Order: sequence, then structure tokens, then C-alpha cells
Amino acid sequence: MNKNIMTFDEWAILGKDKGMERGHHKSVDHMFNLIIEKNYQNYKALDLGCGNGWVVRKFKEYSLCDDAHGLDGATHMIKKAKILDPKGTYFNENIELWNPNHKYDIIFSMETLYYFSKPEKIMKKIFEAGLSNGGMFIMGIDHYLENTESLDWGEKFNLDITTLSIEQWVNSFKKIGFKNIRYKQVEAKKNWKGTLIIYGIK
Ligand SMILES: C[S@@+](CC[C@H](N)C(=O)[O-])C[C@H]1O[C@@H](n2cnc3c(N)ncnc32)[C@H](O)[C@@H]1O
Repeated sequence: MNKNIMTFDEWAILGKDKGMERGHHKSVDHMFNLIIEKNYQNYKALDLGCGNGWVVRKFKEYSLCDDAHGLDGATHMIKKAKILDPKGTYFNENIELWNPNHKYDIIFSMETLYYFSKPEKIMKKIFEAGLSNGGMFIMGIDHYLENTESLDWGEKFNLDITTLSIEQWVNSFKKIGFKNIRYKQVEAKKNWKGTLIIYGIK
């Protein structure tokens, strides 16, 4: 099994998914504000790397959202998601092997995109096969070159991670063909440069 998925599967068993939910919710609120600004209606959303599915359930609380699905490689994360939301749609899949068979209006991903050796390959798949025309891909990450406090995470947490600068992330969005690209850093404090949020429209 993929080393990162294995580590997060252990985290789910240890109950650390709750800590991620607590740690990420403020940044995720900023991401939702950006989504709301776009006035999507009756939209379908997908959370890539959904952990225990808390963001999927958050999407479903909005009446403007028709349905939301979650996808994660860690079996115990998905087991938790299905216990918390038995009627929900959660896929237990490795994102690197995922072949999208639904089109989504919003593809969301929090703290997941840097777990791939070639994030741009995943972003291209999202653009070409996962998003409907006019759809939005929005991602948030805490590990990036400028956020120096995050640079030792690979070693510290036994994870394979890819470190890119803000410019490199934004350039990937441009290269793939996303339009109306916007990025911002939120919840920064002292040396912590905050969550980097980037979105683009297909
Ligand atoms: C840092 S956690 C974030 C979870 C959730 N988005 C949150 O904010 O609480 C990263 C998640 O990505 C998943 N993940 C990492 N690599 C993956 C891969 N190759 N395929 C599918 N899921 C993956 C992990 O299992 C984990 O649940």
C-alpha cells in the first residue's frame, strides 16, 4: 500500500481524523466563502482526500448543493465516514489510480494535493475528467515552500510529500488551462504563513 495512505489509515484508527477536522475547519470556512461567492446552484461536489468525510457533510448542509461525494485512500477514514453518514457516497480509492466516472461542478481538496509525486498530473485529471464545464477546482494546503514551519513534515510524520512554491502551484493551474485563477493565504500567524488556497475555473 502507498506509504501516505498507510500512515493516514493508522491516524484514523488512532482517532487523529478529529484533530485534522478541528485544525482545518477555519481555513475550510475561507474556502467555502470563496465557493459561495461564485453562486453555484444545484451543484454536485467532490472532496478528494476527504478523511472522515466532515467536509462532504458540510457541503450537504447547504441547500444550494444537490449532492456531495467523498474519496479517500485510507480504508478506516472511509469506514468512519460511512458510520457518520450511512446514506452518503464515499469511495475508498487511491487518487493516483482514480478514473472519474462522474462530472462535478466543484472539486474540493484540503491538505491532500502535496501527497503526490506529480501533483500536476492529478490536477490535469481533475480538469479533464472530473470537472464539468464552468466547474471549480479549489484546494487548500499548509505545506508549501514559503511556509517554512511545514518543511520538515515528511520526515516528522513519515509521509512522502512534494514541496512547491506558490508560483509553481499557480503556474500548474495556468498550464492546465484553468481560468479565473485566484489564490490567497489565510489564518497566518507569526512564522506560520497560513493555508494557501488556490482555485481555478474550467
Ligand atoms: C491531511 S489528511 C486531510 C483530510 C481532510 N481533507 C481534512 O482536512 O481533514 C489527507 C488525506 O488524504 C488522503 N490521501 C493521501 N494520499 C492519498 C492518495 N494517494 N489517494 C487517496 N487519498 C489519499 C489521506 O488518507 C488523508 O485522509
